[in-house]
Amino acid sequence: MMAVLPSLALALLYLLRAGAEVPVQPGFNAEKFAGTWYVTAAVSNCSVFLKIKDGMKSSIATISFTPEGDLAMQLVWPLLDKCQKFELLLQQSGQAGHYMAAQEKRDLRVMETDYSRYAIVHQLQQREQETSTALQLLTREQDVSPQLLQKFKELIPTVGLTEDMLAILPKSDQCTEAIS
Ligand SMILES: *[C@@H]1O[C@H](CO)[C@@H](O)[C@H](O)[C@H]1NC(C)=O
Repeated sequence: MMAVLPSLALALLYLLRAGAEVPVQPGFNAEKFAGTWYVTAAVSNCSVFLKIKDGMKSSIATISFTPEGDLAMQLVWPLLDKCQKFELLLQQSGQAGHYMAAQEKRDLRVMETDYSRYAIVHQLQQREQETSTALQLLTREQDVSPQLLQKFKELIPTVGLTEDMLAILPKSDQCTEAIS
């Protein structure tokens, strides 16, 4: 434990610095952001994502907030013929709309959202020596408009990524029953 903690702190510091330029939705309102979202597009330079992105389908993210203001996310993902569930808990960072998970070495910022139609989320994740950057387009409806996709694509170069890393995730009804 003693040896692990300083390296975690270093990783977090690194993530904080790497994301320092990323804008966050001004006046972020957690209550309005909570609820169910569809992950309809994603772009990332994570090597695992790049390998599987063309076979990925839209996942469902259910977001809630603890009384302390931390963000809890449940992700349900159609993978092969199963629904995979992931749960994440991210601590609030002191800036509204910015969350961090020390154990998972993950940094999440809500770059922009209108709460009722879409949100664009920026994530940094450190795994072994690799720090990957990701942007996700979350929509309240499973269908995404060409205008929203266009807006999303325009943000890709601003976070240092390229369009060949983009996956527009086809919709799937496979897991709509699995969300609780
Ligand atoms: C992902 O992109 C970011 C921003 O350009 C860069 O800092 C990072 O090193 C890249 N990571 C990988 C695994 O390519």
